[in-house]
Amino acid sequence: MKIAIGSDHGGFEYKTKIAEYIKTLGYEVEDFGTNSTKSCDYPVIAKEVSRAVAEGKFDRGILICGTGIGMSIVANKVKGVRAALCSDTFSARLTREHNNSNVLCLGQRVIGLGLALDIVEIWLETEFSNEERHKKRISLIED
Ligand code: RB5
Repeated sequence: MKIAIGSDHGGFEYKTKIAEYIKTLGYEVEDFGTNSTKSCDYPVIAKEVSRAVAEGKFDRGILICGTGIGMSIVANKVKGVRAALCSDTFSARLTREHNNSNVLCLGQRVIGLGLALDIVEIWLETEFSNEERHKKRISLIED
């Protein structure tokens, strides 16, 4: 599975660690930046990652900023993207089973690294339920 990952300066540390971790799980990862803790604009990175996922170049995207909120606002404006801001593992699992989310957003200032890695792993490894009620609801999002 091909994963696009990106962050702003506020998520740079976790981006680096998450990218390293998911490579050890066997995922192919492309890093869209940012490449340092120098201040930058989260919408630029969020759009690049989200568009790459929406265009089918990547199976999923992961975006990290200070809160995850800015990233999720931008990502959900890209048609075809269903971005989920998660701070717990239950939501990470359910958003895959119910929403078939294709972008995960995390807040580096909100959750610890251990929890972030658990959320990422669960989100990557949980399949969409494929239940009709969820397929119908997802189709209604795109209307
Ligand atoms: C950057 O200061 C901060 O606003 C950003 O990382 C993020 O939290 C935005 O939602």
